[in-house]
Amino acid sequence: MCGIVGGVAQRDIADILVAGLQRLEYRGYDSAGVAVITSDGQLNRLRKTGKVAELAAAVAADYPSGGTGIAHTRWATHGEPNEANAHPHLSSERIAVVHNGIIENHHELRDKLRASGYEFSSQTDTEVLVHQVHEFIEQGASLLEAVQKTAQVVKGAYGTVLVDKHNPNEMVVARSGSPLVIGLGIGENFIASDQLALLEVTRKFIYLEEGDVAHITRHAVQVFDVNGQPVERPVKEATGSVDAADKGEYRHYMLKEIFEQPTSVRQTLEGRISTNGLAPNIFGQGFTETVAQLNHIQIVACGTSYHAAMVARYWLEQYAGVSCNVEIASEFRYRKFHTVPGSMIVTISQSGETADTLAALRLAKEHNYLSSLAICNVDGSSLVRESDFAFMTRAGAEIGVASTKAFTTQLVSLLMLTLAIADEKGINAADKQMIIDGLLGLPAKIEQALTLSQPIEALAEEFAEKHHALFLGRGDQYPIAMEGSLKLKEISYIHAEAYAAGELKHGPIALIDADMPVIVVAPNNELLEKLHSNVEEVRARGGVLYVFADADANFKSDETQRVINVVNTCDITAPMVYTIPLQLLSYYVALIKGTDVDQPRNLAKSVTVE
Ligand code: AGP
Repeated sequence: MCGIVGGVAQRDIADILVAGLQRLEYRGYDSAGVAVITSDGQLNRLRKTGKVAELAAAVAADYPSGGTGIAHTRWATHGEPNEANAHPHLSSERIAVVHNGIIENHHELRDKLRASGYEFSSQTDTEVLVHQVHEFIEQGASLLEAVQKTAQVVKGAYGTVLVDKHNPNEMVVARSGSPLVIGLGIGENFIASDQLALLEVTRKFIYLEEGDVAHITRHAVQVFDVNGQPVERPVKEATGSVDAADKGEYRHYMLKEIFEQPTSVRQTLEGRISTNGLAPNIFGQGFTETVAQLNHIQIVACGTSYHAAMVARYWLEQYAGVSCNVEIASEFRYRKFHTVPGSMIVTISQSGETADTLAALRLAKEHNYLSSLAICNVDGSSLVRESDFAFMTRAGAEIGVASTKAFTTQLVSLLMLTLAIADEKGINAADKQMIIDGLLGLPAKIEQALTLSQPIEALAEEFAEKHHALFLGRGDQYPIAMEGSLKLKEISYIHAEAYAAGELKHGPIALIDADMPVIVVAPNNELLEKLHSNVEEVRARGGVLYVFADADANFKSDETQRVINVVNTCDITAPMVYTIPLQLLSYYVALIKGTDVDQPRNLAKSVTVE
């Protein structure tokens, strides 16, 4: 969840490292630090609490730089977010480390290292890494050997980078459970936890595999696998754009990403679907053969991606005729489950690095699943590399911590998955055409839904003083209500709950009073009449309603009910279209409340620890 940048160069590197951290700030933002080996051989460390901007200002003001260095933006796991716990951590002012992940046996290692005379200056699990490496160096190991030996004794997850001022022209990096990518320059080389950090200095990348350790100098990169054997990893050209990390005309990344959705959905569809149906093999060679043996789909995901999975279950069971179970990855990975013969495991993730989702995939692979498919936004991510099939959502880089365009493009991808399976299993022509038309017409409908931006901005005033909110939906709109409630919680810190509207009378209706706004998503579908009854139950108890509805859904505004007409859409893509006003609502409420929209408190974009 933390962000790491490092480099070995001839030029001064501190500004490059800090600029890289600024692009990675979505990964964690409670403190930041940098350590550089200066030309006179000193290890110069600077750390600041708060945002990377604090560190950047301090570096710009007065910071003796040098050619080799490491930098870090932190999302605290062990120890509060203060300067003492910020990375880099040092051992004897000689060796410096940055780390992303969790060292599970840090108590044991700390006791052992203390007994050997090492003094700890932080509460972090990370500090054991640097002292352990130092101890091995004292025993005669090179920095590379010391990191390899340390990898044998630590348990847990890490992406880590170390430098030693006695060997100023090298850095050693190790990956186990947390992603690291090497950026190849000309006469200089770099490391980062996400290639986005390095796009201004290189477009050539090596993605490290699990268990890899690499030795990096200005002119060479040597990678060793989990067994310590030298190994060649392919060099890939980056496709991402530097501009992705630019807010452009928008005040926040989140708003930019909300408004990018017509474009991102077009990108998801491009070359994959036409009025005649899906292009061949869009899920990869051999996918069709797999579908022929398919009996069941198990989807695992977390957070917003889990909500996309919940919508997909409605589609897969109704149109593809395949039974489908959906589970939160952190639950799935720790329960004893029965594998239905002929099951496919489908993981959904924006980042492709979510620790729980990755662990669930790895577990499923040990349990006789027919095959695995990743629906993912980051090419080259762990989930993509470890799955049999991968389908890229093509949302483009999503920087705002609250997921928006990643979600709608996941839904589009999952609807194409439904169609691909339905094509093999059998689907009636009318349903097939309805799905195709729905997908092809979706970007225009999202554009129309975005025109609600101003009225929703005005409506947001009514929420700013509230402490709680309830979201209701039925059928495939129930997960959309859940996603709306997650968005409001994440960025405005208003407590919000989502319920399937039919469940209201089984308990949550006790919460209804004039202080509890009830937000309802109500497209004109087969469950509309049922939803009308649920809405009446709320009105009868003095509830205040905000109903997002199709124009012909027969809801009228009055003193206890505000009706916001969403583009009239009674088709399969209503979940995507109804997501838009809920995203806008949470954004504008957060704006009024003055919260940090793009980097809300306590959250990180990519959850690479358990
Ligand atoms: C979304 O707004 C959240 N920040 C979060 O729930 C996120 O969707 C979740 O952590 C899963 O991430 P992933 O899609 O990268 O796996």
